[in-house]
Amino acid sequence: MEDSRTTPTTSKCDSRLSRLKDWLNEKNLALPYAHVVLGSGLALPLQDLEMKDWSFEGEISFSELPGMTSSTAPGHKGTYRFYKKGTRVVSFQVGRLHGFEGNKASDVVKPVLTLADLGVEKFIITNAAGSLQTHMKAGSVMLINDHVNFTGLNPLTGPNDESLGPRFPDMSQIYSPRINKILEKHLNKHNVETHFGIYIGVNGPSFETPAEINLFSNWGMGSVGMSTVFEAIALKHRSKEIGGLSFLANMGAGLGEKAGDTLTGEEVLEAGRQTAPSILKAIFESLETL
Ligand code: HPA
Repeated sequence: MEDSRTTPTTSKCDSRLSRLKDWLNEKNLALPYAHVVLGSGLALPLQDLEMKDWSFEGEISFSELPGMTSSTAPGHKGTYRFYKKGTRVVSFQVGRLHGFEGNKASDVVKPVLTLADLGVEKFIITNAAGSLQTHMKAGSVMLINDHVNFTGLNPLTGPNDESLGPRFPDMSQIYSPRINKILEKHLNKHNVETHFGIYIGVNGPSFETPAEINLFSNWGMGSVGMSTVFEAIALKHRSKEIGGLSFLANMGAGLGEKAGDTLTGEEVLEAGRQTAPSILKAIFESLETL
């Protein structure tokens, strides 16, 4: 068991890393060159997706790795799936941990940091989110230019290991315009309506009130969700290159066309099932030129 006061969350957990490294060796897999985090709605359809040239090589669940928690959120299984094209390997994180499940911010980032600390340099973080702008319709995608961390928490709280990143890391360009441009090109190819904007991360688990949505919208935010910001901060601390994608599963509360529209978690998962295959194909194609 790690002691969060003496073992900074900004340090590596060697037993977790070596367990995953051994597993990759057993499967004869190279270290992935890129890692994709799939948000709710995008995670489940991955299993059924047939991608020409990419072979599925195996999966390992978070619970098999020392010190890692399993996810309790619907649509968030908590496994890594590995795919290969030629000799090149990528990993997909099917599900993630959230603050609203009662996890500490520093625990939420463990699944991405495990890959980061093994040496993966490129990341694509996706999420399901509510749209905050009426021109960005439910079912479309918003590539993330920047974020606002509205949770009041930070995964880097606690002692810092300077060998991994600075105490006060720069956050002036978290999301990579280069990776986002590649994603945009392939999303366009698959006729997925694509926008750019700012993601605001909140704790949840309650959805926002219309007053909160109105506030975020007037602040110029593009999408709102309950994930991503901790992972992006922790990866930027380690100087990783990050693409960011919000799948706009619904309009923010009060922005829907029908007065009195309400929001459910099932609706968010269902919206993902319809558009997810096109988004996943665009992500696989983007990985080829990452
Ligand atoms: N708000 C917050 N998180 C979300 C939403 C939303 O409207 N939709 C999907 N995740």
